[in-house]
Amino acid sequence: IIPMKLVVLGEGGVGKSALSCQFIRNHFISEYDPTIENSFREQKTIDGQAYMLEIVDTAGQDEYNAMRDRYIRLGEGARFRLYLFLTSLGFVLVYSITSRVSFEKLDAFHSSIQRVREDDVYPVVLVANKSDLEADREVTTSEGISYSKKVKAAFFETSAKLRMNVDESFMQLVREVVKM
Ligand code: GTP
Ligand code: MG
Repeated sequence: IIPMKLVVLGEGGVGKSALSCQFIRNHFISEYDPTIENSFREQKTIDGQAYMLEIVDTAGQDEYNAMRDRYIRLGEGARFRLYLFLTSLGFVLVYSITSRVSFEKLDAFHSSIQRVREDDVYPVVLVANKSDLEADREVTTSEGISYSKKVKAAFFETSAKLRMNVDESFMQLVREVVKM
C-alpha cells in the first residue's frame, strides 16, 4: 500500500470540502459550514494499486490562514522533511466557475505550494468546481485552461453536486504523484 497525502487548496466556499467528501464518502454536502481543518483517510485502489490516501481539506476563509499555512508551508524541521520524504504529496487547486475572485486568488495559493520545499516540484491538478451552475458562470473554460497551462497542471471542470469529474481529478493527481 502506497501512502499519499493530497492537499486541497482554494478560496473559501469554492467546494473543497464538498469535493473531498464526494470523493471519499460519495456524499454531497449541501450546507456551507466553513472548514477550520479537516482530513479524510481512506484506502483506495487506482489502476490496480492500493493507496492509503490522506485528503487534507484546508480552510479557505482568511481567518484560518495560519491553520492552512501550517499544512502547506510545513515544517523546517528534520522530522517533517523525513515525513515528506516517506509520504508522497500532491495538491488540488480549486476555484469556482461562479467566482472570479476565487480564480484571481489562485496565484496566492499556487505560490504557497512552491514554498513547501524550494527545490521540489509537486504535482498539481487545477479544478474548476460548481460547473453545474452554468447560469452563474464568471470564469470561462478557456481562462481555466490557460491558467492550468501556466502552472503546468491538469485541468478539470467539476461538479461536487453532480459528482462530475470528481474521481477523475483526484485519480489524475494520484497518477501524477506516483510517477514522481
Ligand atoms: P471553506 O471550508 O470555507 O474553505 O469552503 P469550501 O471550499 O470547503 O466549500 P464547501 O465545500 O463547504 O462548499 C461551499 C458551498 O458550496 C456549500 O453550500 C456546497 O454545498 C456548495 N457547493 C460545493 N460544490 C458545489 C458544486 O459543485 N455545485 C453546487 N451547486 N454547489 C456546490
Ligand atoms: Mg471546507
